[in-house]
Amino acid sequence: MIRAAFETVFSYAPAVSGFTPGRVNLIGEHLDYNGGMVLPMALGLGVTIALAPRTDSQINIASNSFDGIAKRTLTDTAEDHWSDYVTGAVIFAQQADLLSAGADVYVTSTLPHGAGLSSSAAIIVGVLKLAAQLSQSQLSPTDIAILSRKVENDFIGVPCGIMDQMAVAIAKPGQALALNTQDLSYQTVDLPSGCHMAVIHSGHGRQLNEGRYKERADECAAAKTLLGRDDLCHARLADLNILEGAVMRRARHCVTEHVRTVDAVSALREGDMEMFGALMNESHVSMRDDFEMSIPEIDALVSSAVTCGALGARLTGGGFGGCIVACVEHTHLDAWTEALTAAHPKAYRVG
Ligand code: GLA
Repeated sequence: MIRAAFETVFSYAPAVSGFTPGRVNLIGEHLDYNGGMVLPMALGLGVTIALAPRTDSQINIASNSFDGIAKRTLTDTAEDHWSDYVTGAVIFAQQADLLSAGADVYVTSTLPHGAGLSSSAAIIVGVLKLAAQLSQSQLSPTDIAILSRKVENDFIGVPCGIMDQMAVAIAKPGQALALNTQDLSYQTVDLPSGCHMAVIHSGHGRQLNEGRYKERADECAAAKTLLGRDDLCHARLADLNILEGAVMRRARHCVTEHVRTVDAVSALREGDMEMFGALMNESHVSMRDDFEMSIPEIDALVSSAVTCGALGARLTGGGFGGCIVACVEHTHLDAWTEALTAAHPKAYRVG
């Protein structure tokens, strides 16, 4: 399919192609730039990319989601266009000697747009993986994730952490990644067979580069400066007494969310999904009250998700809209989805 689509647009066959999943974060929000533990899970939805190297500096990009071919070059900067992610990835791949020049690229995606399920990380990681494969480079998935984050931070201009790139570079669909963001050590954890992590889009969009993500990152940086430490997650609650107001609440979220995430990883390993669900619920309260990253419509959706029978539910991702994730027993999944979406007509299940 993807190879045929590439060939239709570019009139020759691609050199390489492959799938990269999107991700949903199960717990551990806004901890990846504060030295904490995070637990994202790779989705069955994702992006499929076909690529062929070029000998000139052109980067030609086509997608099933957009009309026409975006014609970019190796000297471009980001211009707030859908083709920026591929462009940035090709430029960084070329600078890292994974490509000798530009490339022709075709992208298809099954991830809903702007849902916060890391389609941007999947595109960037996907392109870099293919370029690494072409050049027979020895880069590890962690190296690819680090380079992908640089594309987001330095080319796109989004000040994100490393969670999304690590999740989509390493985890297989349906697998969770217990990731220590201090040293990037990780373990994959399989979900117990009786439970599903349902992803529900609230119907309210989100934008990471809108400024509120950066505002939270800046507040965390202020807390770190006042505490004289370079991570927040391993501080003690008593240490936070010297902080005040919003900065204290942001730091408190990081400290308590880290402990919850460590506990959630143990609960998942032991198959204790009642405990896992309870930790998800506590996480939502902390995101709502301390990190102040929720919106009333998401709070209502999370509350209904639990009332309708989920073991736990919470906002997921960067915040201020987007998706919730809920832990639901397989036997209840259809009835639960129906009840929830009947009560929230704008919401819909994406995974
Ligand atoms: C976005 C960022 C991640 C992470 C989450 C919040 O998805 O890309 O790095 O900070 O928000 O947990």
